Amino acid sequence: MLSGRMPSSARSRFTAVVTAAFAALAIAACGEEGIQLSEDDPNYAGAELFSQNCSGCHTLSVAGTQGSAEDANGREYVDGPNFDQRIVERDQVLYAIANGGFSSGPMPQDILVGDDAEKVADFLAEYSGSDVDQNAPEPASPSPTGADEDDGGGSSPGD
Ligand code: HEC
Repeated sequence: MLSGRMPSSARSRFTAVVTAAFAALAIAACGEEGIQLSEDDPNYAGAELFSQNCSGCHTLSVAGTQGSAEDANGREYVDGPNFDQRIVERDQVLYAIANGGFSSGPMPQDILVGDDAEKVADFLAEYSGSDVDQNAPEPASPSPTGADEDDGGGSSPGD
């Protein structure tokens, strides 16, 4: 145990720094960030369609949209999933657009059809899930050599 107490001035300075950091984040979250793809990106049209038609209810940072609820307490009924945090496949997007989501929730049906729906589906399939750790360790499986099963990792070659 350390001797002495943390001076209360240091503690409140720490609190102030943390509070300021959160405030800055909150401000950034409200900003208009716009589409983060270059205009010659094949998915640019999809990003644009997404920001025009889906932004009110779905967050996706590469499209500059913030529609999903930031925290559970602020959640509104119409808020849809945050696509930074969820990976969606092309077929899932086409299904959701045609059927109004996966449940009979507040998402409207057929907001987009035909080519437009497909462009958004391609775009989302490519760019959703950016916050998901795709390098997360896979569930334990027997190693090819049968050795080192209990090794906590870090010993495999490559990535
Ligand atoms: C009025 C709000 C609203 C709009 C506009 C909206 N959505 Fe949704 N969306 C939701 C809600 C709420 C859900 C979750 C409930 C559900 O699945 O029915 C959802 C679910 C989804 C899902 C399923 C995701 C999953 O994994 O559960 C996809 C994909 C989707 N939306 C894509 C889109 C796309 C693409 C657009 C624009 C063309 C769009 N949404 C416009 C509200 C909306």
